[in-house]
Amino acid sequence: MNSTTSVVLRGTGSALPVRVMRNDEFAATLETSDEWIRTRTGIRERRIAAPEETSISLAIDASQKALEAARLPAHELDLIICATVTPVLMTPSNANYLQAALGCRPIPSFDLTAACTGFLYSISVATQFIQNGAARNVLVVGSETLSRVIDFTDRNSCILFGDGAGAIVLSASTEPNVGVRRTHLYSDGKGAHLIHVPALVSKHTGPIQGVPTSPEFLRMNGREVFRFAVHRMAELMAKAIRDCRELGTEMKLLIPHQVNRRIIDAALEQTGFPADRVMVNLDRYGNTSAASVPIALDEAIREGRTHPGDTVVLVAFGGGLTWGSVILTL
Ligand code: ACO
Repeated sequence: MNSTTSVVLRGTGSALPVRVMRNDEFAATLETSDEWIRTRTGIRERRIAAPEETSISLAIDASQKALEAARLPAHELDLIICATVTPVLMTPSNANYLQAALGCRPIPSFDLTAACTGFLYSISVATQFIQNGAARNVLVVGSETLSRVIDFTDRNSCILFGDGAGAIVLSASTEPNVGVRRTHLYSDGKGAHLIHVPALVSKHTGPIQGVPTSPEFLRMNGREVFRFAVHRMAELMAKAIRDCRELGTEMKLLIPHQVNRRIIDAALEQTGFPADRVMVNLDRYGNTSAASVPIALDEAIREGRTHPGDTVVLVAFGGGLTWGSVILTL
């Protein structure tokens, strides 16, 4: 990045539904078991939103915690971006509701859709708003209620997902060599058929290649996505290790998209990165799509897994297909 303005992480927050759904609950209605789910994915349980909880209410909760951690009053925010594939409505956006609920000035606010990579895409957009002088303080949120779009009779997909939200505040700073150091974003629509989440209009949409007509639920080709995820995650990590070297820093902690322990382990094996420097909480939350990285980042900071001055690397991959990374010095 050429700009002399740094984009620093000022605060983080997360919010999770209270209801815990353990693997055993699937075994009551599906041909599956706690043992299969644990050994094939690493997931033990996930959180499921109560009827009154939405990707807006979870986003508000996470955002208030992030603003509190940042010691920033909501009226000083200049932009809100909410990454989600499960917005409550297509319009108004989740971000519009957030703007009102937090008591912000009439600042721009919008949702961004890039599946599980959405939070990293949003960081990149926020960084550019700050570096070109259009904003000083930006709230970036990932918030999902995947439980509302999964088919609880499809054992190939339903066991993977959970609900939750994470939020961060990014601010302009003149301090050098801190904050968002590099971002890398990618997409390949040729893999669009591998994962899809329907919208209301899907019911009235004609055939799209690889997508069943009138899709009601999230569908995914797990085996193909697994292959793509390992390949891209290892590639992103190798690039991040090289980037850190160029920047004169070291990757202290890797915060990957949380979906399957075997994907993380395979990427670690390919890159030689040590497992004790990876943040993993998928055992408790499963895959919360755009919310997974900010929830893990918030927990890593609150649990003291990472400290000011450390460089952390965020990597994510998901529907689209999309993938990307962010190198961040705290
Ligand atoms: N319980 C028991 N058996 C199961 C289950 C289950 N829950 N799910 C699948 N199986 C069976 C399959 O039917 C198959 O049986 P068969 O051999 O008789 O046909 C067998 O297990 C193996 O199936 P695979 O699909 O090869 O299982 P795999 O080990 O790959 O695990 C999983 C499946 C967990 C879905 C894995 O492929 C995965 O994690 N994929 C990545 C998903 C991902 O990264 N998604 C991120 C993007 S999501 C987004 O962007 C919104």
